[in-house]
Amino acid sequence: MIIAIDGPAASGKGTLAQRIAGHFGYVWLDTGLLYRAVARDVLAAGADLEDETAGARAAEALDAASLGDQALRSTAIGEAASVVAKHRGVRAALLDFQRNFARTPPGAVLDGRDIATVICPDADVKVLVTADVEVRARRRFEEYVRRGENVTFEEVLDIIRQRDARDASRTAAPLQKAPDAVLLDTTRMDIETAFMTALDIISRATGDRQNAR
Ligand code: CDP
Repeated sequence: MIIAIDGPAASGKGTLAQRIAGHFGYVWLDTGLLYRAVARDVLAAGADLEDETAGARAAEALDAASLGDQALRSTAIGEAASVVAKHRGVRAALLDFQRNFARTPPGAVLDGRDIATVICPDADVKVLVTADVEVRARRRFEEYVRRGENVTFEEVLDIIRQRDARDASRTAAPLQKAPDAVLLDTTRMDIETAFMTALDIISRATGDRQNAR
């Protein structure tokens, strides 16, 4: 069973994917961490984030054991990740790792931007999680405040707007809805409601598949 959860920055896709995986006893991969780790390693090597060759080299050498690094969660690394993520060479180098992970029995939940469109086009369930940009910025701002980061709401809103534009406009695997993905707009939902709605989408999608057999 493969469940693909895509969505823009701070849409809540990570929290949702983690809860779904826990509920069904599946493994979970936050694919954003891969791009974050590549950005971290490019910077550590003293290379330029715009340098595709350096990015691809870092992606090929990526150590999956380093994905738990708390430093990957910072705003700066998130920004840097969206720069390395536009390079085709970086995305290609991370493809096999993600596809192999997706095949973990009895099931896997992957969250990202291109899971339903590029990584797992045959996923059993595809969900595109969205929310209005102000709501996403509010959630991300509250997360930063809890972590003691020194940012204003306006700064977070600005960063998220820029990131949305970058992720949607790039030519390599832009964030877009797969034709068969179900839209889950969490603007007016708390996490519990979003989770229950996602369970409903999953049971309908898997039920439909079984009925079609
Ligand atoms: O949660 P948030 O959106 O802040 O960050 P993330 O999911 O960790 O992703 C960081 C950046 O990595 C995104 O802005 C994307 O540019 C990139 N990314 C991607 O291109 N493809 C993915 N499957 C996941 C992330």
